[in-house]
Amino acid sequence: MPDAVPDPKTAAQAEMLANRLAKRAKHLRKWARRIGTNSFRVYDRDIPEIPLLIELYGDAVSGSLYERPYEKDDDEEERWLSAMADAVSESLSVERDRVFLKRRRRQRGTDQYERFDDRGAFLEAEEGGLRFRINASDYLDTGLFLDHRQTRSLVRAEAAGKRVLNLFCYTGSFSVYAASGGAAEVDSVDLSNTYLEWAGENLALNGFESVAAEPTEYAAGRRIPGKFRLVRADVLRFLAGAAEAGRQWDLVVLDPPTFSNSKKMAGTLDIRRDYRDLIDTCLAVTAPGGVLWFSTNARGFALDAADFPGTAVADLTARTTDEDFVGRKGRVCYTLRR
Ligand SMILES: C[S@@+](CC[C@H](N)C(=O)[O-])C[C@H]1O[C@@H](n2cnc3c(N)ncnc32)[C@H](O)[C@@H]1O
Repeated sequence: MPDAVPDPKTAAQAEMLANRLAKRAKHLRKWARRIGTNSFRVYDRDIPEIPLLIELYGDAVSGSLYERPYEKDDDEEERWLSAMADAVSESLSVERDRVFLKRRRRQRGTDQYERFDDRGAFLEAEEGGLRFRINASDYLDTGLFLDHRQTRSLVRAEAAGKRVLNLFCYTGSFSVYAASGGAAEVDSVDLSNTYLEWAGENLALNGFESVAAEPTEYAAGRRIPGKFRLVRADVLRFLAGAAEAGRQWDLVVLDPPTFSNSKKMAGTLDIRRDYRDLIDTCLAVTAPGGVLWFSTNARGFALDAADFPGTAVADLTARTTDEDFVGRKGRVCYTLRR
C-alpha cells in the first residue's frame, strides 16, 4: 500500500502540479463551456520533473506517466503516482476514485492497446453536440482522441451528401461527426472487433444505426447494405480490394497508428516508411474533386507536397490545433484534394 505521507520532494512536486493544474483548469473550463465540451487535456509534461499527461473527461480524469528520469523502483513509483493522483483530485475537484493514472511502459508494436485495469469507469464525453462513450480506467487511450476535436469538426462541416471512408476508425469518432454532418454514407474500417463494436455504440448514442459489412461486399458492382457500415478488415487489404473494384469515396479520413504489426494484418505498417504508398492508395479510391484528410502523431513528420502531383496539399495543423493543445508538438494534419 502506498504511504499516506509522501517524502518532502514528492510533496513539493504534488504542490507544484496542483498549482499548475488549478491555473490551467481555470482557463480551460471557461473555454470548454463556451465550445460545448466536458473533455479536454489539462496537462502534458508542462513541468519536466512531473512527466504526466492529464485529461479531464466529465467527472473523471484519465492520465498517464511517462518514464521519470533516473530509475525508480516499483513501490517508489506507485507511491509517487498516488501522491500526484491526490493532487489531481484536489486541484481539479474530481473524486479520488475517479482519477486514473496509468504507467506507460516502453511501447512495442500493439502494446499501446494493452489493458491496465478492469474497473470499467465508463462515462460519456460531450463534444460538438455529440456524445461519445469513454473508458477512463482500463486503457492508455480512453476511446476519444482529444487532439482531433477540430479536425472532426472540419470533417463534419464538409460531409454533407458525401460518401465518407474512415480508415483505422478506432471508436468511430470521425464517423459520428461525418454522420451528423449529413454524409450520404460512412464506411468505417478497423481490424479490431472491440473497437468496431464501440464505434457502433458511439453511432447509436447519436441516433445513427450501423450495420456490419464484409470486405467482400465492396467488390465491383455489389450493392452494400446500410448507410453507416462497420468493416472488420486490414486497411491495406481493404484498400487494395476497393481500388481493384473501382470503389470511390468523396471524403477519406486517414489517421493511422504510427506503427502497427497486428497478427491479423499482412506485414507491418510504419508510417514514416509507408506514408507515401498509403496516401497514394487512399487517393486512388478518392473520387475526382474529393478530399483526403491525413493526420499523424509520428514525431517530426512533415509531408512534401511534391510527392503528390495532381493534388492540392494544405497543411491544416495550426488550424486544427485547439486551445488545450496550443504550443504542444505532436499531431500534424493535411488535406490532399484531387
Ligand atoms: C491510433 S488509432 C486510430 C485513431 C482514429 N483514427 C481516431 O481518430 O480515433 C489506431 C486504430 O488502428 C487500428 N489498426 C491498426 N492496424 C490496423 C490495420 N492494419 N488495419 C485496420 N485497422 C488497424 C487499431 O485497431 C486501432 O483501432
